[in-house]
Amino acid sequence: MLKAEGLHVSISGVEILRGVTLTVARGTIVCLLGRNGAGKTTTIKTIMGFYKPVKGRVTIDNMELTSKSVHERVKYGVSYAPEDLRIFPWLTVEENIKLAAKLAGRNVDEAIEIALGVFPEIRGFLKRQGFYLSGGEKRMVAIARALAQNPKYMLLDELLEGLAPIVVERLSKALREIASKGVGILIAESNVMLAKRIVDEAYIIERGEIIYSGSIDKALETENIARILGVKIKP
Ligand SMILES: Nc1ncnc2c1ncn2[C@@H]1O[C@H](COP(=O)(O)OP(=O)(O)OP(=O)(O)O)[C@@H](O)[C@H]1O
Ligand SMILES: [Mg+2]
Repeated sequence: MLKAEGLHVSISGVEILRGVTLTVARGTIVCLLGRNGAGKTTTIKTIMGFYKPVKGRVTIDNMELTSKSVHERVKYGVSYAPEDLRIFPWLTVEENIKLAAKLAGRNVDEAIEIALGVFPEIRGFLKRQGFYLSGGEKRMVAIARALAQNPKYMLLDELLEGLAPIVVERLSKALREIASKGVGILIAESNVMLAKRIVDEAYIIERGEIIYSGSIDKALETENIARILGVKIKP
């Protein structure tokens, strides 16, 4: 189980997270849903170790990570695909994936095989530089790169935004396959309809606080939450 418990985070004196608590079990996909600026990226970055919480803790499988560096967290089994993807433009796809594996202390050839196992289509552009990838291809590489680190838990920040429905479907299928192999996935999303394509269980974050956890469909029955998520309730 990945657990974030009571995370309080302040940036430049402003309180951004106010007691964020969530859990992700291995083999499941959990969505962190909230509108722009709600605190999704800050939550993920804090779990990953980029921000130090003023209060609260992060553990995986009862191992304390709160005082560990980002690099140590990667080695213990938490990997991350950031909102802006960070694919190195002048490295090939193969080099991007191998570099991630190397940073996690994994065998690089095995990492490529694992990535191709989930995304066979990557073989077609393995030697292409990151700069020349389409939006959908970049997301695949970002997921493949996180997977190459052989994670127990993956944190994916808004990877489905702005993609054609068929690509969203392809990536959702890949995420289900990855989860079925025992990886716990936390995916941040601001678009409730996109979130619902992957999973029905979500934590909803608003102004740095978790205001709901459970089924998205149920959440939308509550007028306040539907309004926050920009969904109109039928009269
Ligand atoms: N480094 C920073 N310095 C100052 N304010 C920040 C910083 N990082 C985040 N914030 C503020 O914290 C709040 C939460 O930001 P965060 O990026 O976590 O939101 P988000 O839910 O990921 O939004 P989006 O859907 O737009 O990506 C915002 O008001 C943002 O302006
Ligand atoms: Mg964000």
